[in-house]
Amino acid sequence: MLPTVKDPYQYNGEPLAVASEALQTGRRRYYIESYGCQMNFSDSEIVASILEESGYGGTRDASLADLVFINTCSIREKAEQTVRNRLTEFRRLKKERPSLMVGVLGCMAERLKAKWLEEEQLVDLVVGPDAYRSLPTLLAAAEDGRKAVNVLLSREETYADIAPVRLGGNGITAFVSIMRGCNNMCSFCVVPFTRGRERSRPAASIVEECRTLARQGYREVTLLGQNVDSYYWQDAQGGLTVDFAALLEQCAQVDPLLRIRFSTSHPKDITEEVLQTMARHPNICRYIHLPLQSGSTRILQGMNRSYTREWYMAKVRRIREVMPDCGISSDIIAGFCMETEEDHADTLDVMTQSHFDFSYMFMYSERPGTLAAKRYADDVVPEVKQRRLEEIVALQNRMSLASNQADVGRRFTVLIEGDSKRSQAHWMGRNSQNKVLVFPKAGKTEAAPGDYVEVWVTGCTQATLLGEWAG
Ligand code: 5AD
Ligand code: SF4
Repeated sequence: MLPTVKDPYQYNGEPLAVASEALQTGRRRYYIESYGCQMNFSDSEIVASILEESGYGGTRDASLADLVFINTCSIREKAEQTVRNRLTEFRRLKKERPSLMVGVLGCMAERLKAKWLEEEQLVDLVVGPDAYRSLPTLLAAAEDGRKAVNVLLSREETYADIAPVRLGGNGITAFVSIMRGCNNMCSFCVVPFTRGRERSRPAASIVEECRTLARQGYREVTLLGQNVDSYYWQDAQGGLTVDFAALLEQCAQVDPLLRIRFSTSHPKDITEEVLQTMARHPNICRYIHLPLQSGSTRILQGMNRSYTREWYMAKVRRIREVMPDCGISSDIIAGFCMETEEDHADTLDVMTQSHFDFSYMFMYSERPGTLAAKRYADDVVPEVKQRRLEEIVALQNRMSLASNQADVGRRFTVLIEGDSKRSQAHWMGRNSQNKVLVFPKAGKTEAAPGDYVEVWVTGCTQATLLGEWAG
C-alpha cells in the first residue's frame, strides 16, 4: 500500500486520500487522492459519482486500483511539486502493472493541459474541472491507447444534477458546492484560469441536496464556492432570483438541526443582508472566513482586491457589531511583489486590530499566466519572504492562543464529529465559531457523533479548546 501524503498546502486540514470502498467484487476499481481546497475535495465526490455510474467501484488502497486519479491544485508552486512527486510514485506502480490507468484531474490538469501527456508522459488521462462528465468516454479512449484529454472550461457546468458520493466522510458534515469559477481576477491567483468564469448552481438543487443530507442524518453542510457572496441564480423566465443571503435563508430553513457554514467570502462582496440573515438564524454558524491577503492598501491595489485596509477593518467591525460572538479567520500572503517593510508592518497591524481567531498564511508564489506574473517582478527575495511569513505566523499564533484563552470558562453547544484524533476516550467536535473542542467521553455514555452537546471549556492549546460536559 502506498503511503498517504500530507500536503502542507492543503486548505482545509482534512485527510487527503479519499475513496469509497467497492463493495461488490468484480468491478474495476478507482482510487482518488485530492489536493488543494475544499472545492477540489467536493469535486472528487462528483468524479466518484460519475465513475460509480459507469460501473466502477472505489478502493482506499492505490495498489488495488485499476484507475488512479489525483485531483490537483495549482495555487502555489509547492502544491504542484507535491503532486508531481506523487505522480512519480504512481508511475512506478504503473511500471509494475502496465494496465493501471493514471489520470490527472483538477487545476493542474487545466493549467498544463496536454503537456502532461505529450512532454512528460506521466499520465494516461488529463481532465479539467469542467470536464468530469466526459470521464467515461475518456477512459474508453485511454484504454484503446488514444489521447484522452478534455480541459474545456464551461460557462454553465455546475454538476447540479449529480449526487456526490460522500468520500471518506464522517456522515455528519458534508460539503455542498453552490457555484464554480471566479470572476475576481486577484492578480496573484491562478483560479480564474484553472476554474473559469463564475456560474451559480440552481438554488432548488442546492436546497434539495441539503434536505437529502439532513434526512440521511448529516448535521452540518458547508456551502462552497470560490466567492460565495457573488452567488446569483435566476430562473429561466428571469422572474425568481436568489442571491447568497436568500440562499442561506433557504438552507437554514431546511432543518433547525442542520448547521450551515460557507466558504469563501470576499471582503468586498459580503453584504449587510448576509450578516443579518446569519444573525437571524442560530443554525447558520457564527464564523466567517474573510481573506485579508495584505494589510497595505498599496499592495491590495497591486493584488486587485478592490478594498483598502480601512474598508477591511470597517467590515470586521460591522461583523462584530451584528454578531459579537462571530469567529473570523483569514488568508494572508507574505512578500507579494513590491512589498516593503512598511507594507508588511501594515499587514501585522491589520491582523492585530482584527484579532483573527485563525489564519492560513503563505509566502507569495508567482503563478505563470496570472496578472501579477505579467505585470510585476517577483522582487521580494525568498529570505525576506520567509522572515515576514514567520513574523505573520508568530503573531497569529499569539492571537489564536489569546482567542482560545478568552473562551476558557465559557460554555458552548458542540456538534460531536467523532473520536479525538489522539484518544478514543475523547470526543472531538466544533462549536458554531468553528473552534475544535476535545472532551472526555466518560460520564455520558449515550452521547454519539451527530449529537449537539453542551461543553464547558476548561483549558486550551493554541489550536484546540479542552472541555468537560456541562450539565
Ligand atoms: N501565492 C501565495 N498564496 C496564494 N494564494 C492564492 N494564490 C497565491 C499565490 N500565488 C492564497 C490566498 C488565497 C488562498 C486560497 O491561497 O491567500 O486566499
Ligand atoms: Fe487549488 Fe485554487 Fe484549484 Fe482549489 S481552486 S484546487 S485552491 S488552484
